[in-house]
Amino acid sequence: MLEAVKVGMLGLGTVGSGTVNILSRNADEIARRAGRGIKISIASVRDIKKQRACDTSGFTLTVDHNKVIADPNVKIVLELIGGTGIARELVLKAIDNGKHIITANKALIALHGNEIFQRAQEKGVTVAFESAVAGGIPIIKAIREGLAGNSIQWLAGIINGTCNFILTEMRDKGRDFDDVLKEAQQLGYAEADPTFDIEGIDAAHKLTILASIAFGVPLQFEKIYTEGITEITSADVAYASELGYRIKSLGIAKRTANGLELRVHPTLIPHRRLIANVDGVMNAVLVKADALGPSLYYGAGAGAEPTGSAVVADLVDVVRALTSDPENRVPHLAFQPDALSNIPILSMDDVSTVYYLRIHVQDRSGVLADVTNIFANHNISIEAIIQKEPQTNIASVPIIILTHEVVEQNMNKAIAEIEKLEAVTNKIMRIRLETLT
Ligand code: NDP
Ligand code: HSE
Repeated sequence: MLEAVKVGMLGLGTVGSGTVNILSRNADEIARRAGRGIKISIASVRDIKKQRACDTSGFTLTVDHNKVIADPNVKIVLELIGGTGIARELVLKAIDNGKHIITANKALIALHGNEIFQRAQEKGVTVAFESAVAGGIPIIKAIREGLAGNSIQWLAGIINGTCNFILTEMRDKGRDFDDVLKEAQQLGYAEADPTFDIEGIDAAHKLTILASIAFGVPLQFEKIYTEGITEITSADVAYASELGYRIKSLGIAKRTANGLELRVHPTLIPHRRLIANVDGVMNAVLVKADALGPSLYYGAGAGAEPTGSAVVADLVDVVRALTSDPENRVPHLAFQPDALSNIPILSMDDVSTVYYLRIHVQDRSGVLADVTNIFANHNISIEAIIQKEPQTNIASVPIIILTHEVVEQNMNKAIAEIEKLEAVTNKIMRIRLETLT
């Protein structure tokens, strides 16, 4: 067998340690798959005294990232630091030094992927990022290679494990939002700044990547509509359930006649759909393709070894390709770089969807008629209404409404008018609904 390929690591936290543990535990099988051994020879960290969740005795540990990317023996650099500052700088330098890159950093790819891929192409090196989307699920490979014969119509994914964990714990155990978020942080699921998770930014990074691969468009993070889960209450979860739905934070990318819808927001999904039953830190991506039809990809979306599994899969791919002709490698964004399309990304105003609304009103006659008149004026028709019994000591009653499909700008106007009604006591809660058929 050929000599083992030397790998340098930038970062040795949750994902880095998971990766080292997998490489060590499964070394023989990995070498048989790759055609040669894979050896970590150096890793850089911020705090050298910190206790690590893996055995570091077999390689050099340093605080100098430049030592990793400049090491002439290192062929592949794993970027497992995160963020778009130092990580971007180091990745570009490592590419200039002729290193192949593997990264789990979706923010880096979503924001700077176009630049990084171009530089990598010029230098004839690979940048692999399977672990950046949906943790351990091989979704990049599935779309980029497994579905290469299809025209993809839409995809919808639970692509943030932290949000799914929080929503599941709130629904099943009635737990408090902040308390579950703390647990997700302790378990290593959350981003260094967890607002990226709960405000939908992390999912938007991942959706940026999925949309490029599915539709052959450049990475356009700034055009994604993003809404987090922080305003969802346990009451919404319970009302949705009463109506036969589950609330999930979904990333949706849909091809329409006018352009692409790219959006991340909490979504009601009929409870009988498989994806509605994806709970906890698990992720799932449902892809609707013209030839295959729907297919669902399910697995752990975060955590040390699930993510390390995808990092190691990329390592094996790169090591296998090291002996092959660079011209034959798979393009980073699935489509050839000169064949990317400029389909417009739709503004959220032009997106059509069904809505769940929770409206709190004073309990007096005529209020419901005022609300439904406003809907009628904006051509919004109603699918279902639940009016709850008034509770003692509470001045308002909630009305829960499911609409038929409506264009977002009409709904925005109707909500603004309804919120101005004297009898409406609170800001209206609105959650979009997708039947995913
Ligand atoms: P951690 O915070 O656990 O680890 C980050 C590592 O990078 C640590 O070793 C840390 O050093 C080092 N580091 C961080 N900031 C700096 C800095 N400014 N200068 C030098 N070194 C630094 O992160 P994760 O392992 O959780 O995440 C790594 C990447 O993987 C991120 O891009 C994340 O989005 C992505 N990811 C994470 C998943 C998860 O489940 N955690 C899943 C999928 C992707 P030290 O240890 O000394 O502090
Ligand atoms: N913070 C991310 C999540 C990690 O919770 O999904 C995996 O990308």
